[in-house]
Amino acid sequence: MVPSSNGHLWWQRGVVYQVYPRSFKDASGDGIGDLQGITSRLDYLRWLGVDAVWISPFYPSPMADFGYDITDHRGVHPRFGTLEDFDGLVAEAHRLGLRIILDYVPNHTSDEHPWFLESRSSRDDPKRDWYIWRDPASDGGPPNNWISVFGGPAWTFDAATGQYYYHAYLREQPDLNWRNPEVRVAMYDVLRFWLERGVDGFRVDALRQLVKDDRFRDNPPNPDRWPASPPYDALRPVYSTDRPEVHEAVREMSLVLDEGASPGERVLIGELYLPIERLVRYYGEGGSGVQLPMNLHLISTPWDAARLGDLIDAYEASLPQDGWPTWVLGNHDRSRIASRVGPAQARVAAMLLLTLRGTPTLYYGDELGMRDVPVPPEQVQDPYEKNVPGIGVGRDPVRTPMRWSGEDNAGFTSGSPWLPVGEESAEVNVEAQKRAPRSMLTLYRRLLSLRRSEPALTGGTYAPVKAADDLLAYAREKDERRFLVALNLGPGPRTLGDSGLGRGGRVVLSTFLDREGEAVGETLDLRGDEGLIAETTTLPGV
Ligand code: GLC
Repeated sequence: MVPSSNGHLWWQRGVVYQVYPRSFKDASGDGIGDLQGITSRLDYLRWLGVDAVWISPFYPSPMADFGYDITDHRGVHPRFGTLEDFDGLVAEAHRLGLRIILDYVPNHTSDEHPWFLESRSSRDDPKRDWYIWRDPASDGGPPNNWISVFGGPAWTFDAATGQYYYHAYLREQPDLNWRNPEVRVAMYDVLRFWLERGVDGFRVDALRQLVKDDRFRDNPPNPDRWPASPPYDALRPVYSTDRPEVHEAVREMSLVLDEGASPGERVLIGELYLPIERLVRYYGEGGSGVQLPMNLHLISTPWDAARLGDLIDAYEASLPQDGWPTWVLGNHDRSRIASRVGPAQARVAAMLLLTLRGTPTLYYGDELGMRDVPVPPEQVQDPYEKNVPGIGVGRDPVRTPMRWSGEDNAGFTSGSPWLPVGEESAEVNVEAQKRAPRSMLTLYRRLLSLRRSEPALTGGTYAPVKAADDLLAYAREKDERRFLVALNLGPGPRTLGDSGLGRGGRVVLSTFLDREGEAVGETLDLRGDEGLIAETTTLPGV
């Protein structure tokens, strides 16, 4: 829990692995993953070579949004296990040298949370102001034009007390009122509860939504909306998200994390879908914000060398002096990387993710090249897909069970899995790929081990080399060790004319896992869909 030998903190050197608990490993046999299941696979994560495990919510919940609608922030849903199971998970993780990061959901609770039940009971209830209640507009309609991320109005009328309550997501997820000091105190105590149980940090859910405009002004229309985009994109959420006051709350959360710990020992990661210039503000003045404002731009940027090069340059240029970068390829809300760019490029994407400067987050199953699994309409579970069907926003396909083996149900459960395991499970599974020397899993493991052994790849500088004509190339360097990463984003062969390798170098890793040790020179030949890491034998500038 201290700065590492090369001067970086664990969350700077390390790689975060996201587990969606319903889908990782089912120990109880009810078809839904659980905490004991996760504990039983921590050795796999250790073997894979990641450093921290972020676990999506496992708290008591009616599951309207699969756990992001919480009724008790200090418990474990019986489907997932018990608090004792959680303590066992943390103890085993720490024994193996893995950190545990929890999903902290401060923006909203379940509508069945005791706080909300009290709040909605009467206008005079002491907890009335814990949520966001407003009178109807003069025509009796909602107080303003805000819409829910999941489609439909963001206001629901409560006939018993004659007011509307606000919900950025489902009507079953009323937003807490973060302008109320009692709410803040209660929610900071939630952080303390888990910190005392030994967790190493939090991923803060929906952070940009936390505080709303104090005048509840209408959001303006979004002129950039493209046809068939989700309903939420009809407006620019300037008054409902990313308000200046969010930063105050973040500062307070970060102080709670530092209680009884040395600075930087624990990590706050913010879920922030924001343009780069707004995203980087979440580092806070003098590091008072979240350590890792999640950079989710690799998920939305077209898979094109020039566009990716521009993204990396813009991000690197915007980072505040002490701001540590972070990159994400996929999560439980967005289409999987192997579906977005195809299986061949997913290998190149793995090399990109694990060689960029900053902390990478890996989504479970991406290390196998899992693709989105089609879920037939009658089996749809995701409330977003149910509200906004047919335009591809559904999240079930990216939440299908982790594939452990070629056995029935991919070794995920002895029961009937809550979502289909998918047709590729015979080959795309851990057991099969462990044995295959050139599998995606082997590639991930090699990349992770290279990162671990080469400080230049974690703490080294980043310098762009080329971003055009399907080629994305950059150098990473520290203490006279210099690596060139060259990625061919297209299916045809490409030559990098000026590799910057000086008098030559050697291949450390190809995404095809077959060129290790090969000598390379000033020009570098890449096969279609190949990514390469080369080590130079000369000093830069020679
Ligand atoms: C975040 C989560 C998503 C959830 C939403 C509401 O965006 O990642 O899964 O539905 O917040 O909590």
